[in-house]
Amino acid sequence: MTAPKPQARPERVSAWRFLRLFRQDILSSQPERLYRARMAEFRTPFFRSFLVNEPDLVREVLMARPEDFPKSGRIAEGLRPLLGNSVFLANGAAWARQRRIIDPAFGRGRLKEAFPALLGAGQAGAGRLAEGIVEIEQAASHMAADAIFRTLFSLPIDAPLAASVYRDFRTYQRAQPLLNLAAFLPLPRWVPRGHRPAARDAARRIRGAIARMTAHRLAEIEAGSAPDDLATKIMTTPDPETGARFGAEEMVDQVAIFFLAGHETSAAALAWSLYLLAAHPEAQARAAGEARHFAEAPSLASLSRLRFTRDVFREALRLYPPVPMMVREAAGRERFRDREVPKGAQIVVSPWHLHRHARHWDRPDDFDPDRWQKGVCPGSATYLPFSFGARVCPGAGFAMLEGPLLLALLLARWRVAPVDGRAPVPVAHLTVRSRDGIWLELRNRDTDLRESLARSSQGSCA
Ligand code: HEM
Repeated sequence: MTAPKPQARPERVSAWRFLRLFRQDILSSQPERLYRARMAEFRTPFFRSFLVNEPDLVREVLMARPEDFPKSGRIAEGLRPLLGNSVFLANGAAWARQRRIIDPAFGRGRLKEAFPALLGAGQAGAGRLAEGIVEIEQAASHMAADAIFRTLFSLPIDAPLAASVYRDFRTYQRAQPLLNLAAFLPLPRWVPRGHRPAARDAARRIRGAIARMTAHRLAEIEAGSAPDDLATKIMTTPDPETGARFGAEEMVDQVAIFFLAGHETSAAALAWSLYLLAAHPEAQARAAGEARHFAEAPSLASLSRLRFTRDVFREALRLYPPVPMMVREAAGRERFRDREVPKGAQIVVSPWHLHRHARHWDRPDDFDPDRWQKGVCPGSATYLPFSFGARVCPGAGFAMLEGPLLLALLLARWRVAPVDGRAPVPVAHLTVRSRDGIWLELRNRDTDLRESLARSSQGSCA
């Protein structure tokens, strides 16, 4: 079965219609030919952009010369009130300094230390669900937010301060409807940007709560009683070049981006993985077999045995990359495939199109987790859910530990099935979500087992 993708727009539309479609949803506003093209240029009265769909160009932009293609300043528009000058928005020397402090916190050894936090979040999340029809994106969001809070601050999401950050974050997203990719491209200033005051209020509350948490943590660090978690690590790591640590305000910026990047993306990937398994019962049975085994005695060592589950998660990241497009700006004039690229043009690298590209993938729209055992290389210029090059996602290793683990804990307990008439329609908000949520029917595997045992014992009495 193919994995749903949005219907493409007609090949030729006016600039105005394109703009209108683009504002509704960036995925369905693109023409079908982008799944075959090597590059595409868009000219509108307001901006010129180039979508690069060829591995060599992708490498050039992200890997070989990232300093010539900084993050587009437009990205900051919708996110600055929440994220300040965090690593996600910074460029140049300020960005490089932040990465020098952050990267060691995500090193291999540190990841192992996140295992108990992730296990706790997964077990709590699986326990919160109930039999029946469930909107799983929201449940996945709750679970992933819990996972990142426990990893950052050793606090479960139902602790009052964590819960209030999560609640305000949801308000922020609702109040800032242009917090989607359309905000990343240079629309003219007069295009309405949404209910800014409500979003700003929510952002102020979130930053206030995070500031209280980091101040509390700083006091614990000074008293020598701080838990050894991600927040402590980032707050105590000096820049190897200057010896300076993050200041209080900078720390709020970084925690805000870890919270945002660390739960929105993982939640999207988890929800799509569950949907794909619901739509493919044979694959679900295989993953559930691994999961039941793992959940009997979960340990870091036994995580490596979730091989098929990991391939399911990889395949979900291919078909529904949480970050569907990355936007850069040409710092100078360039020439791409014999075409002039003017200074200031927006350069779009689109995992969404690269991952379903007819030239790069066999049966690109099919869900086939087994393809990952046939020599397909994760981390190439045609599969880049975590980007690559200097600005590669620092949380990639963490996410690849978290995703299969949460998926396994859910599958060990719940059988998931699609709901008739509610096939999800992918749309690009900040991450790739379903337009009307992802609805699944959940059934407890123990109930299944009890009923099938009862049926077979009735059979033998008859
Ligand atoms: C499935 C989960 C995830 C996916 C698919 C993902 C994907 C990405 C991608 C594609 C980027 C690059 C964006 C761009 O350059 O425009 C990125 C950046 C980033 N991610 Fe992730 N991410 C995930 C999880 C996480 C987690 C768990 C964390 C932290 C706890 C995290 C923290 C960050 C940060 C801080 C950046 C900015 C890096 C920079 O600009 O130097 N991400 N992520």
